[in-house]
Amino acid sequence: MMKIAVIGSGNVGGVLARKWIDSGHTVLIGARFPLSEKNMKLAEFIGEDRFISIEDAVFQSEIILIATPATSAIEVAKSLGNTDGKIIIDSMNIVMGRGPVGYTNTTQAILDHTNTLDIVKCFNTTGFNNMLDPQYANEKLDLFVAGDSEKGRNAAIQLAKDAGFADCFAIGGNDKFELMEQFAFFWINLAMFQGQGRNIGFKLLKR
Ligand SMILES: NC(=O)c1ccc[n+]([C@@H]2O[C@H](COP(=O)([O-])OP(=O)(O)OC[C@H]3O[C@@H](n4cnc5c(N)ncnc54)[C@H](OP(=O)(O)O)[C@@H]3O)[C@@H](O)[C@H]2O)c1
Repeated sequence: MMKIAVIGSGNVGGVLARKWIDSGHTVLIGARFPLSEKNMKLAEFIGEDRFISIEDAVFQSEIILIATPATSAIEVAKSLGNTDGKIIIDSMNIVMGRGPVGYTNTTQAILDHTNTLDIVKCFNTTGFNNMLDPQYANEKLDLFVAGDSEKGRNAAIQLAKDAGFADCFAIGGNDKFELMEQFAFFWINLAMFQGQGRNIGFKLLKR
């Protein structure tokens, strides 16, 4: 079982925290305002004791999920404290140009502002509604992960399965962070701008 710090407990972080607790992981929520009204709503499902400061949550964990707005990527990365030897999973997307200044993806920004190299991008290519329920008729959706870190990729793949996805496919190294964001925008475009709605998702077919 893994010790996970969830930084950003909104749509994505809140759902994944609940999923990972249900699958037996130790989950802490690292928050700027641990006892905010929004966090107390989530606490009704997962308990108040998990809500602590960002630095404490990171210190006590081996895996860190970042699920804050992309505009906060650098500020959040700097607020983590010592991340040496820890895995960071980045679920953020720069949408409509709103992201860390000078970057075309959030994961590279985190890599440049933390002291671990084990950083991967995952859980960004589908809506939080699909994280809550990845089941479509008799099939489950797939996820994707990018990053040079093998231990980071393996952790993300396991956590994707633990969240209920069928599989999680590695699409390459750090040079594919941007492709992951473009793929996320492909989903956003279909769901929001082309009118398909949020109940759509990707699955890799093979033969
Ligand atoms: N929504 C989706 O379907 C979806 C799907 C895939 C990926 N994503 C990506 O995932 C990320 C999160 O999306 P979301 O919809 O979950 O957002 P959200 O519901 O708005 O939640 C954002 C969370 O980040 C926290 N936060 C904001 N600024 C922070 C900072 N400077 N330091 C620490 N925490 C901070 C907020 O807490 P407080 O403000 O209360 O501190 C809140 O808990 C985004 O980058 C988004 O692009 C979203």
